Amino acid sequence: MDGIKAVIDQRGDPRTTGAGIADMIGFFEGFPARFPAGSGSGDTRALPAIWTDRAGFETANANMVTQLRAFQAAANSGDQAAFGAAFQQTGATCGACHRPYRGPAR
Ligand code: HEC
Repeated sequence: MDGIKAVIDQRGDPRTTGAGIADMIGFFEGFPARFPAGSGSGDTRALPAIWTDRAGFETANANMVTQLRAFQAAANSGDQAAFGAAFQQTGATCGACHRPYRGPAR
């Protein structure tokens, strides 16, 4: 996201970010599997709600994948305004999972 923000700040070509966004989609498609039952202790910011409200966590993640696909479409369009707006939306979607499911830095 920092690398993509640099493209926005420099008014670069949004199309150069397509591969990075594709990587993010791949990462989030496999994200819930990184939180198997019983893995919530130790050095982690993962909150217990990931397991007590699994459906909510999976929904937040599915929303992320959907938003990243929209972000990718905006990037591929080459339209800087649409790309910038989609970046904001994407950041909000990250936060929509962090608020209920990620604890404070430790
Ligand atoms: C479905 C939920 C979910 C979504 C969506 C999500 N995250 Fe997270 N994120 C987490 C959880 C849970 C952790 C804590 C994991 C741990 O500590 O084991 C985390 C941790 C992180 C960390 C590491 C923080 C540290 O402790 O070093 C970063 C960076 C991060 N997320 C960035 C993002 C960005 C950027 C996005 C959006 C593109 C995003 N996340 C979307 C749930 C999510």
